[in-house]
Amino acid sequence: MIDDRLRAHRLFLTDHLRKQTDFSRTAQNLGLTPPPVQKPAPLESRKVTLSVPDQWPESMGRTSLVEAISQRKSRRKYSGEELTLVELSFLLWSTQGIRKMLGHGTALRTVPSAGARHSFETYLFINKVEDLAPGLYRYLPLDHALVHVRDVPGMESALARAAYGQKFVGRAAVTFVWACIPERMEWRYGLTAHRVILLDAGHVCQNLYLACEAVGAGTCAVAAYDQAEMDQLLGVDGEDEFAIYVSPVGKKGVESEE
Ligand SMILES: Cc1cc2nc3c(=O)[nH]c(=O)nc-3n(C[C@H](O)[C@H](O)[C@H](O)COP(=O)(O)O)c2cc1C
Repeated sequence: MIDDRLRAHRLFLTDHLRKQTDFSRTAQNLGLTPPPVQKPAPLESRKVTLSVPDQWPESMGRTSLVEAISQRKSRRKYSGEELTLVELSFLLWSTQGIRKMLGHGTALRTVPSAGARHSFETYLFINKVEDLAPGLYRYLPLDHALVHVRDVPGMESALARAAYGQKFVGRAAVTFVWACIPERMEWRYGLTAHRVILLDAGHVCQNLYLACEAVGAGTCAVAAYDQAEMDQLLGVDGEDEFAIYVSPVGKKGVESEE
């Protein structure tokens, strides 16, 4: 016998809510403007342009798909080497890069998303990346650029603390934190938005795992973190935008090569 709370929460995993949702009342069907594809960056903020696939060296990310898939594992030990800006460009393109604009409020990316709503913002706690000062940055997919958000004093320990003491989260060259803006998905799907947001997050992180393998790096999905602390580190309000998934990235350490 399962208890009532488990039963109630299991419902979230199913698609029963679709039949109970009046789609004629969604923001989209009421004719409301969709939320922007990308959270705007303050005009005066520092931006870093990233490179695009045809600018990358021939050797970059050419590991075969079979190799990348078969080598993939969660890697929690990093060598301490820095990532190049080209490698970071590749990781961002692989996880949230825009493939095609579809018009107002929609873009296709390198990962799938229910209704192409793409409800994530990618934050990066950069520690060791060529030519970038450490600190918190955010990816701007429409510009394929980074925007500097703020410096983060004591970043390594702050990240480890926010991840319930998981030290490797602070020791990475760069820690990806995907935040969700649920309204982007709710605009189209109402109450059925939340289940597909989580499904979407899996695709993004899996692409990061595979892209890491293609550049001699590794990552580890992390879902255990203190929600309020992580949101505070990101500088988001925890209601209209909040952390949803974390994935530290670094060049492979010796222990992770077994
Ligand atoms: C949704 C999700 C959440 C996870 N959260 C954590 C975590 O908080 N800490 C951690 O060390 N590993 C975490 N992992 C990694 C798993 O422990 C790992 O995928 C699993 O042990 C299988 O190992 P493999 O990825 O090497 O195949 C998570 C993985 C997933 C997919």
